Amino acid sequence: MSEQSTTAVACANIALIKYWGNRDDTLRLPANGSISMNLEGLFTRTTVTWREEELALSAAKGGAWKEGNEEDSLIINGLPVRGTAFQRVSDFLDLVRNMAGMEWRAEVVSENNFPAGTGIASSASAFAALALAASIAAGLDLEPAALSRLARRGSGSACRSIPGGFVEWQAGIGDEDSFATSIASPEHWELADCIAVVSAKQKPTGSTEGHSMADTSPLQAGRVADAPRRLDLCRRALLERDFDALAGIVELDSNLMHSVMMTSMPPLFYWQEPTLTLMRLVREWRFGGLPVCYSIDAGPNVHVITEGAAAGRVADLLGAVPGVQKVLVALGGGQARLVK
Ligand code: DP6
Repeated sequence: MSEQSTTAVACANIALIKYWGNRDDTLRLPANGSISMNLEGLFTRTTVTWREEELALSAAKGGAWKEGNEEDSLIINGLPVRGTAFQRVSDFLDLVRNMAGMEWRAEVVSENNFPAGTGIASSASAFAALALAASIAAGLDLEPAALSRLARRGSGSACRSIPGGFVEWQAGIGDEDSFATSIASPEHWELADCIAVVSAKQKPTGSTEGHSMADTSPLQAGRVADAPRRLDLCRRALLERDFDALAGIVELDSNLMHSVMMTSMPPLFYWQEPTLTLMRLVREWRFGGLPVCYSIDAGPNVHVITEGAAAGRVADLLGAVPGVQKVLVALGGGQARLVK
């Protein structure tokens, strides 16, 4: 039996300037560009095995094989996955099959090393690792930009987990120029993300649905129009290692995204009581001289960005706040890579 197998690893990332809303939901062309930092130590490891023979066998048996994808299989953290999560992966594998001009079935075995039930999003690391493993195993040797574009089709934020360090996803005009590139290596500035886990529950409205509702907020147009300015300020703060400038723009951008979320139809409220307490405390600590700022994704957990040297102190402070279940600490991470 002919088979080709590849394993890849990709980090999660935290957006400092957020992606929220699409110009094209199918192609995942974002309403605005975004900037993120890869998170070392929070990763997905994925093995993709393409098999030729089983497909022929199943077709020969008169099985209900169609377009290849019903023969795919997906195992995440040791458990078989079906339903919409499986369909999303299988649809993504169709893109790779089309690019490679092949119809083999795929077996995908994936593991997240994030502590179970911390509510940390895995779609970015998952689709970045899947894009790399699936394309290499299919015999495609994509340029970094093409690989980032491919990962984007699985999950928008995944395109930012392909390059390493501090990364910018340019919104682009269309599919060809909407991809992410590195603006600085992780060594350029040792920042840390101290994630205060407030709730481990599955969020009620996922990002994909949230993106499609962004335009129902009257605030989204203003948020998008101002994005180039925020991207400039964030990029410059990173390149100049200016923490105060970074803190101001990161918190503004997070607040803007949540303002859009809360004013969408229907409104999306992701914050919980401890989220607000943490936002207040982080600002107080910063005004007291600690280099900290907050950023919140589509959930109640609070990402506290700080300088590497202060990470231990910040993690201790966060861990003592009522309602914080645990604190994860991640430094800047590298690019998606193959595992031998
Ligand atoms: C709030 O990339 O998870 O984390 O493309 O539908 O998978 P899909 O959305 P996703 O959206 C991320 C939203 C965010 C902000 C960000 O990471 O930029």
